[in-house]
Amino acid sequence: MPVQILFICLGNICRSPTAEGIMNTLLEQQGLSEQIRCDSAGTSAYHNGEAPDARMSEHALKRGYKLGGRSRRFRALVDFEAFDYIITMDDANYSNVLAMDSKNQYFSKIFKMTDFCRHHVMSEVPDPYFGGNEGFEVVINLLEDACRGLLEKVLNEHGIANPQTD
Ligand code: 4NP
Repeated sequence: MPVQILFICLGNICRSPTAEGIMNTLLEQQGLSEQIRCDSAGTSAYHNGEAPDARMSEHALKRGYKLGGRSRRFRALVDFEAFDYIITMDDANYSNVLAMDSKNQYFSKIFKMTDFCRHHVMSEVPDPYFGGNEGFEVVINLLEDACRGLLEKVLNEHGIANPQTD
């Protein structure tokens, strides 16, 4: 069974599809796509069924990441069990996901993405939706950093050899 990672933001059209796209690129580059899988979802259904935000996709593509998938809402009944790591982008997403874990059964799976940054000192991946171009670049910078840190944790915790370092 592959390790399953779920990235969560509010709308599932900017930050979490970008995290998914960056992580998928790292996994492909390192030949790990069979062992580790990722998906993304939103805490809201505002953009249900929509493709990633066009501005986010354009910025991501310029940095070498092709975004895909369609927005969907986080499904507590299914996703808490199905995923091994549930990674939220900001404090609001984190509290909302924790609140859906009504029996506190899944606490150890739920993290904030910025916990895995090794170079950036930020406590959230800021929502770029209502801002300008710079916000989308900040998202990509933070997510590139955090995806590397998260991948290292997952490899260590599951005893998966990293072809880049082994
Ligand atoms: P995301 O960005 O949570 O990174 O996908 C947003 C997308 C849409 C909205 C807010 C944030 N919205 O309010 O519609």
